[in-house]
Parts: sequence; C-alpha cells; structure tokens
Amino acid sequence: MCGIVGYTGSHEAAPILVGGLRRLEYRGYDSAGIATLDRAGLVVRRRAGRVRALEELLDTEPAPGACGISHTRWATHGPATDRNAHPHVGGRGGSPTVAVVHNGVIENHSALRRELEAQGFAFASQTDTEVIAHLIARELESTDDLFAAVQRALTRLEGTYGLGVVSPNRPGEVIGARFGSPLVVGLGEGEHLLASDPVAIAPHTARVAFLQDGEVVRLTPHDFEMRHMEHGPITPRVDRLDWKPDAVELGGHAHYMIKEIREQPETVVDACRGRLRRAEATAVFGGLNLSHRQLRRVRRVVFAACGTSWHAALVGEYLIERLAHLPVEVEYASEFRYRNAPLDDRTLVFVLSQSGETADTLGALREAKRRGHPTLAIVNTVGSSIAREADGGIYLHAGPEVGVASTKAFSAQVAVLALLALYLGRLRHLSFPDGLAVVDAIESVPALIGEVLKSEPLVERAASEIAGARNALYLGRDIHFPVALEGALKLKEISYIHAEGYPTAEMKHGPIALVDRETPCVFVAPRGSLHAKTLSNIEEVRAREGRIIAVGTEGDDAVAAISDVFLPIPDAPEVIQPLLAVVPLQLLAYHVALKRGCDIDKPRNLAKSVTVE
Ligand code: AGP
Repeated sequence: MCGIVGYTGSHEAAPILVGGLRRLEYRGYDSAGIATLDRAGLVVRRRAGRVRALEELLDTEPAPGACGISHTRWATHGPATDRNAHPHVGGRGGSPTVAVVHNGVIENHSALRRELEAQGFAFASQTDTEVIAHLIARELESTDDLFAAVQRALTRLEGTYGLGVVSPNRPGEVIGARFGSPLVVGLGEGEHLLASDPVAIAPHTARVAFLQDGEVVRLTPHDFEMRHMEHGPITPRVDRLDWKPDAVELGGHAHYMIKEIREQPETVVDACRGRLRRAEATAVFGGLNLSHRQLRRVRRVVFAACGTSWHAALVGEYLIERLAHLPVEVEYASEFRYRNAPLDDRTLVFVLSQSGETADTLGALREAKRRGHPTLAIVNTVGSSIAREADGGIYLHAGPEVGVASTKAFSAQVAVLALLALYLGRLRHLSFPDGLAVVDAIESVPALIGEVLKSEPLVERAASEIAGARNALYLGRDIHFPVALEGALKLKEISYIHAEGYPTAEMKHGPIALVDRETPCVFVAPRGSLHAKTLSNIEEVRAREGRIIAVGTEGDDAVAAISDVFLPIPDAPEVIQPLLAVVPLQLLAYHVALKRGCDIDKPRNLAKSVTVE
C-alpha cells in the first residue's frame, strides 16, 4: 500500500515531504518521488528503490518550492522503475499541467488509457495512476479551477483512490481526494498537510481531519475547503491525535519493532487508563454507545479481524467465554464479509484493527451494519475509517505503531479485551471477588511485562536455535493457542522462516510428522490448569529428537528440565498470561530476523496497512 504526503505553507516543501515518506516507508516501498511548485513551475523527481535513493537524487537535483506532493510506491501495475514511480504528470505534448500521487487501484484504467491515447495524450508509464493525471489535465484545458477539474475527472474512475494533486496553474494549492484508500489532512499554523497515514504528519501537527469516501479537499497555506462529490460543502471534522510528539521517532532504538516491543508496559497502561473501576470490580468504556440493558440482551459475540488483530480476538474469545459465559466466534474479516453468516438481533459484532483502514475489516464492518447489527470497533487510529463508521467502540490509545510487524497493538488489544470480558462478566454473573481478582491481575501487567523484557539477552541467545531453521512449530493450549499463532506469525513476517501455530494437543494429528532435529518446537507452557498435559506433549517431541524452546513460568523446573531453551515469565493468573507469554515470542522473532540479516521494519512483500482486498 502506497504512502502519500502533501504540503503547502511557508517552509520549503521537499524536506517535509521526504521526511514524511521516511515515516511512511514501512507502508510500501519499491520507489519514491516528489513534485513541487516553485516560480519556475512544476519540478518532478522520482527514483526506483528506497527513499534514500530519492534523497540522493535531490542532493544533486533539488526540488524547490513551498508546495508539493510525494509518494512511496507498493507496485500494483508495472514493475518498480523510475518511469513507474509517482508522481505521474498529465498534459498533452510533453507540457505537464498536473502531477498526481495515488494509492489504490483503478479498475477501468485500460479503457480510459485507450480513450486518452486516441485524443493525443502520450503515456510514459505502465501505471493506472497516469490515467488520472491525463484525465485531470484534459479537464484543465477547459478550466483553471483545479478543484473542479479533479472532481470532474474522478467521476470517470472505477476503483479505489487516495490522491494528492498539484498543478503549476495553481501555485500553493494541494488537492486531495479519497475513495477506498485513507487520506488525512493536517492543520498547521499557516500551513496544511495531506497524508495517507497520520504518522507522516504527526511531527508537524496533532490536529487532523480524516477524509471519508467521496470527499475532496482543497488546501492552501491558509485555506482548507472540504466537499463531498455528491453532497457539496462539508464542515471538516477535526480530531486531535493523542500521540506524544516524539511518538513516531525511533528514539535511539535500532528499529521501530524493538522500540514498540519495549513500549508495551506503557502501552498497557495507556490502554487501561481510566477504564478500571476497583470500587465496583469492573471496567468502564466511554464509547460503546450501548446501555447495560442492551448488553445484557446480547447472546453471542462475533469478532472480525485480520492477522495479528485476529489473534488478539482469539484471546478475547477465551477471556469473554471464561469471564462472561458468552459464546464468541472469531472470523477472518475477509471470510466474514462474503460468508453471509447467520446473525440474529442478539449478536454483537466487533471489528478489531490497529490501523482502522484494513480493507477486509472495513468491509466486514460495512456488511454487519448493512444487515442492521450494532457494530463496534476496537481500533488504534483516531478518526480512521473503521473508527468513524462503527456505531461505537474502544480506542487502544497505543500511539502510532510504525513497525510492520504488529506488537504493542496486540498487547493493547488483548488488554482491552480483558477489560471488556471483565465488564461483560460483571454485567452478568461474575462475582465481586472474582471481578476484583481480574482488576488486580490487569493492574499488575505493566510491571510484569517489564520483568519479561529483562530476559531479552536470554532470548537473543535462544535465537540461534532457530536462525538456521527452515520450519518451526509453535504450540499452545487453551488461551495460549492464539499466542502460539501470534508467535508463528511474527517469525514468518520478519525472518521469512516458515512457522505454524497449532493447539498443542493437535500436534499428534499430523504436525508431529514434521518433528526432527532441524525443526524447533516452541511451546507456550506457563503454569496453569493444563500444565501436566503440556508436559506430556513436550516429552513426545523430545522422544523424536525435536529441539524444544519453552516459554514457561519462572521456577518451573519440570518444563525447564526437558527444554533445550527455557524462556521464563513471571507467575501470573491465566487471564493475563497471554500478555506476558507473547513478549518472548516477539523478541525471539526480532532477534532471529536480526541474525538472518532481514529488514526488520520493512519486511519484503508486506505493508503496514492492507488497504486493498
Ligand atoms: C501483523 O504483524 C501484520 N502486520 C498484519 O497481520 C496485521 O495485523 C493485519 O494486516 C491487520 O492489520 P490491522 O490491525 O491494522 O487491521
């Protein structure tokens, strides 16, 4: 998924535009480019490769001007080359009158390309985006109103877009448009910014206005005009990012992923802040928008999510079924949205998403709403599409998660789900003492995660056990099965080692055939009600010469004695153990990837926010 940044103000645009690309580079990165407007007109600089390659080009061929747009590309049409890099320009006869950056896919680009070529527009790239540039240029032949020209051109498009547009005919003006791909405006002092993700503009302003589908904006240093393509002028909805100013900086850490792993004690504090009510042994939420009576009527909960958020939802299933005795089903959002699952009016649907822009999760939300269900969101990004379209929900307050491999968002989601399970339980049958025990457990989590983080050197040494493997098995029972899945995903994502997560007992139904000295088996095995059974499973792997890495309760000599590597976590009640057990697995994936020389924050083929289906 591509990254977009726009700027208009009194400062030189290029450093702001390129700085924003650097913060978005995790989103999609096989080429980058910039277009600025200065007294001489339109300046365009583009390069295949990382943002660094564009910076090197700008060192020798600057892009002056206080207004412009920039882009990092995740190729959808045409390979990563200089010619296919954005911005793309439009106009006849080699005289560009417009430059465009685009995130999304234009389905009818071939027919439009043929129409435009027949009218004398020459194409220089293989991209669908260049079609948009020429469509706008064609409209500019009959008006110098760029805002109107863009809106007219958009009526010809079928597909999705997040757009940034500038024209030498309109100095100081940046046009933005959104349909299916996220776009946000940053409101500064005497300047306005545009971005596909607030991470790009957070150092410049905390005041943001997210565009919704069908909305277009016109930005100048002092003006901000918003319209809906069909309904006309709109008063912008301005949110305030609750991020610390340096939240998007590396802050001395080697990578965003390790920074965000280490931030998790604070992440859980922030996720729970103001939401625990010790005096009533329960939790409270400000944004569910459902009364206690409505919530007591609920007979079933459905979660829809993708990736790590789906794993967090699975932990939520165990927590809510255990504390609230409510049946929970966890669906892949991409399946839920097309499966036509039977839902009645006693079903509560939640979607979970860190970015709030995942296309499949947004699709699942819209499908649930279309069928009349109250649909809530557990989401991190304020003002994101999912946050805005849900009927209510719970913000994670985890701050920006930049690393592609999600870590602190998982912990924030699990913490919020523990609060939700407590809240729903106490609305039903969960006793005051049992509720208080959960409150105590949740309040202990930040300090306990801090204890686990101290074991990083041990995990770093354990990474050698896995770094050379081609396959790995991750195994966990009950509430630790989702933790095993999450540990396997972390390893896959950033070290490219094939890893599978399984319920531990399921190993005997096939996966044990994989066990040999070359295949590390990672057991999530803290003390708990199923501890003895897990011990037997570890012995079964040992009997087949399997290499065993176990995450277990410190002092648990029974597990330590039969493991090749033992990664201790503090003793804790089962309801919060996932928040502790996941940390060694996050660190393990990180250090294995380091040993393998992988690109931690920009893993191949992946993007942080999957805004296409
Ligand atoms: C997790 O490490 C991955 N980056 C990916 O699976 C991610 O969790 C998934 O794309 C969902 O993203 P969301 O939470 O922003 O919706």
